[in-house]
Amino acid sequence: KKTDNQMLVIFGASGDLTARKLIPGLFNLHLAGHLPKNFVVLGASRSDLSDDDFRDRVVHKSPYLKDKIKDAGDAKTKAFANKLYYEDLGKDYDTDYGDLRKRVEELKDKHDTSGNIIYYLSTPPTLYETVAKNLADAEMNTQNHGWKRLIVEKPFGYSLETAKNLNKGLHRFFEEHQIYRIDHYLGKETVQNLLVTRFANSIFEPLWNRNYIHHVEITNAESVGVEKRGGYYDKSGALRDMFQNHLLQLVSLVVMEPPIGDDAEEIRNEKVKALKSLRVMKDEQTLYDNTIRAQYVASEIKGEKVKGYREEEGVDPNSTTETYAAIKFYVDNWRWHGIPFYVRTAKRMPTKVTEIVIHFKEPHHQIFQESGMHRDNKLVIRIQPDEGILIKFGVKVPGQGFKVERANMDFYYSSLAETYVMEAYERLLLDAMQGDATLYARADEVEAAWEFVDPILNYWKSGKDVRMYGYAAGVWGPENADDLIDDRGMWRNPGEN
Ligand code: BG6
Repeated sequence: KKTDNQMLVIFGASGDLTARKLIPGLFNLHLAGHLPKNFVVLGASRSDLSDDDFRDRVVHKSPYLKDKIKDAGDAKTKAFANKLYYEDLGKDYDTDYGDLRKRVEELKDKHDTSGNIIYYLSTPPTLYETVAKNLADAEMNTQNHGWKRLIVEKPFGYSLETAKNLNKGLHRFFEEHQIYRIDHYLGKETVQNLLVTRFANSIFEPLWNRNYIHHVEITNAESVGVEKRGGYYDKSGALRDMFQNHLLQLVSLVVMEPPIGDDAEEIRNEKVKALKSLRVMKDEQTLYDNTIRAQYVASEIKGEKVKGYREEEGVDPNSTTETYAAIKFYVDNWRWHGIPFYVRTAKRMPTKVTEIVIHFKEPHHQIFQESGMHRDNKLVIRIQPDEGILIKFGVKVPGQGFKVERANMDFYYSSLAETYVMEAYERLLLDAMQGDATLYARADEVEAAWEFVDPILNYWKSGKDVRMYGYAAGVWGPENADDLIDDRGMWRNPGEN
């Protein structure tokens, strides 16, 4: 695909995301020769930095680039750093962008970037609309001389209502096709591979429905706690931080119907349809029966003491924000009618892992009475780490009789090691630079996800008969979460055979 000459203006450029993800992603693109010939990054934020200060901060002295710089060498690093500039917006993002515009035009002429601009909003979400409005006031959103695109970071809204307002707000200044809502899970190779597994093979899709699937289980576990983000996290919680976006994206890719082609709109149409078919939980009994939330409490992990959530910096000591969420739900459409989905996400789990498990139904006529271990087939899609796909099936134990045991067919992505695997942000940035929105969330997609999540959040907030469990840091969440899963018992411990 062609990448036009362009400029990337990053709002919030002195923040953590720029140094940790965006600049390293761009550096990789630079080293791989994927950046267009004429390309400039203009960082903008409220810190008083010179161009050189900015280059030092995000490149030369960046802890995130240290190893890469060693490998790349001085010349290539310098060539990259020289593409970076910085503009101080003063005290406030809500200001006249006249000076910014002047700087953009100066750089455009100097580097011949032909008026194509991506604005990347890496600011607090409360400022998204403000920045968009100020760009429009300075006529920096017009497409007369080159295209303009807007990349928006998560969180996209805090509830259905705020997400709708945000969409409306942004649509006042940018058209939907110009807006790229980033969800870094869609940048992960294994997440994209879900589409390929399902729609480029003929062996899975015929079984991918209520006739053969018993239930679907998705686990997203992190071993870390809330780290230094207590202040943000306490207002967010697991449901907003992970479930509404990343996990419902995974759900939509598992649930969706085959799109008619690989075009961004076709794929996103199917994803929206999938999200709209999730059965929204309305009454309190359903919400009580199908949602579990919990918080980690102080404990030891591998001999090391770790704090409980309520003792973390920035967290209210009486906080009722969940660090664990497990939700059971149904999908009301032809394909999935009656099949439960179990999805959980949490911090301070025994390990970091994300996986999707498709549990198949047992054969309807069992002829091997002796069968011990094996009863059902499973397809495990390991999103991270040890990216790969595992199929569990029954084999005959050698010897007399028909004893059946479980065997594994296991594919590891790392066996494709010679192929360079782009990091999520790198891939997504390049896509936006090329105008490909397939892996970005559309307005209606985000709203459909909120439609499902909103009643759960409201129910949890209501405090009416809502349970909040504790779990020791380093275990697989509260035992009560097993109550969600009906006739087949327990959650699968990821990594188990
Ligand atoms: C972010 C969340 O979106 O995703 C974090 O805000 C979380 O709380 C992170 O740690 C997880 O991403 P990954 O790629 O490490 O699974």
